[in-house]
Amino acid sequence: MAKTTYLLEMNHIVKQFPGVKALDDANLKLLPGTVHALMGENGAGKSTLMKCLFGIYLEDAGEIFLKGEKIHFTNPKQALEHGVSMVHQELNQVSQTRVMDNIWLGRFPGNSLWVDEKEMYQQTKAIFDKLGIDVDPREKVGHLSVSQCQMIEIAKAVSYDAQIIVMDEPTSSLTEKEVEHLFRIINQLRDQGCGIIYISHKMEEILRICDEVTIMRDGKWIATHEAKDLTTDKIINLMVGRDLTHRFPPKTNKPGETILEVNHLTAFYKPTVEDASFKLRKGEILGIAGLMGSKRTELLETIFGIRHKEDGEIILHGKTIENKSAKESIKNGFALLTEERRKTGIFDVLDIKFNAMIANLPRYTNKLGVTNDQKIKEDTDWVIESMKVKTPSQKEKIRSLSGGNQQKVILGRWLLTEPEILMLDEPTRGIDVGAKYEIYQLIIDLANKDKGIIMISSEMPELLGITDRILVMSNGRVAGIVETKDTNQEEILRLAAKYL
Ligand SMILES: Nc1ncnc2c1ncn2[C@@H]1O[C@H](COP(=O)(O)OP(=O)(O)OP(=O)(O)O)[C@@H](O)[C@H]1O
Ligand SMILES: [Mg+2]
Repeated sequence: MAKTTYLLEMNHIVKQFPGVKALDDANLKLLPGTVHALMGENGAGKSTLMKCLFGIYLEDAGEIFLKGEKIHFTNPKQALEHGVSMVHQELNQVSQTRVMDNIWLGRFPGNSLWVDEKEMYQQTKAIFDKLGIDVDPREKVGHLSVSQCQMIEIAKAVSYDAQIIVMDEPTSSLTEKEVEHLFRIINQLRDQGCGIIYISHKMEEILRICDEVTIMRDGKWIATHEAKDLTTDKIINLMVGRDLTHRFPPKTNKPGETILEVNHLTAFYKPTVEDASFKLRKGEILGIAGLMGSKRTELLETIFGIRHKEDGEIILHGKTIENKSAKESIKNGFALLTEERRKTGIFDVLDIKFNAMIANLPRYTNKLGVTNDQKIKEDTDWVIESMKVKTPSQKEKIRSLSGGNQQKVILGRWLLTEPEILMLDEPTRGIDVGAKYEIYQLIIDLANKDKGIIMISSEMPELLGITDRILVMSNGRVAGIVETKDTNQEEILRLAAKYL
């Protein structure tokens, strides 16, 4: 029997994909006027459960009640019309359309022959004003930042008068300021009685913004608690099903002599990286800290040749190199794992095998141009095993993997190239706590093989946990380089604010 006090009840949901039981008795009970976190490791079934609610997937078994009434949506439009809306993990808006068309698509004001543009503009503007969104409704979606796109999705939810809003990893690419804005909107919606389902791997956020937490493991419901009764350690314990006493593997790497020198590097388009200098040693893990917008990504992109450099030099093994393009950089022994999965060009419809080896073709092709299929298969197995990618087989389309597992395949593909200099931009974003440990171990292993590693991270514990030194960027400049063992969070934050 469904109780009417719940806005939403999902009971005993089962969903089987070929080779994977994504959901196996999953439950969720959402109260009105609350923010409810849905947590679990990569591949636990969080996104799948929400897609069943939203009518994207059809569950094999189980029941869904909306305000006590049994429902069964067969497509997202139905869900929206019943006040259920979802901001997806991977946004897919039509980039050539205008913002307001995107919001009112399929239900334009006016009649069937004529769209009331003025009305559409005003209604959009009214919602934007209410939410504090500063975007012109006539702007093309393609011109917006990720955070603006997300705000538009939330505005769309509000325009449908949504009572339930699902947010799947909404803050993964937002700046601190944008996160604050999002949280204000979430609070506003909660006060109006909305129920918000919030999926995230960021513990601090969960404990701050959520009222209740439901934890899933292997497609199953594990527990639901009030957030005030939980701690990070308790959540981790419930997520992975065991105590994770060590968040970081032992640091066994020993930095040796300098392999890379970057001197007075300035990028071409202003405002950007200015006069950046640092050295990287063999077997060293150099962290890069800084606030969002401090141009950390731009620094790596300039070294990698994706951005033009205006000035400065890059010296590898005592020899000046140019790195004029990504191709040249890869040849010189550099690799860059970029921040945005969608922009890194994962080949959505292709299988994991292909995605794992694409960066690596020369390794599999002999002088006659014949590819070595056995080697490809072995290496792909290595990626799947060492990164613990949750998938039934190599032939699985990467699109059907969970968000975090996609990230692991891409990271694995760069690790396979065994570069001299491995540059990682937020390598553990969207990755659960258990899998993070494996990734740290792989990074340390590479350092032990004398590779030089540069790693941007916004997670302070991670920087302090596995790096040897930390370079702090502030407003496009190097504010300081500190020894990890002698520094602390306060010093890093102070440096990050140095040139603001
Ligand atoms: N369309 C699909 N076809 C086949 N398998 C799928 C499909 N969608 C999801 N899966 C599988 O179902 C399982 C659950 O995936 P889901 O995306 O729900 O995980 P998640 O909890 O959202 O993880 P993450 O934190 O990485 O986003 C995974 O093993 C995934 O590979
Ligand atoms: Mg997901």
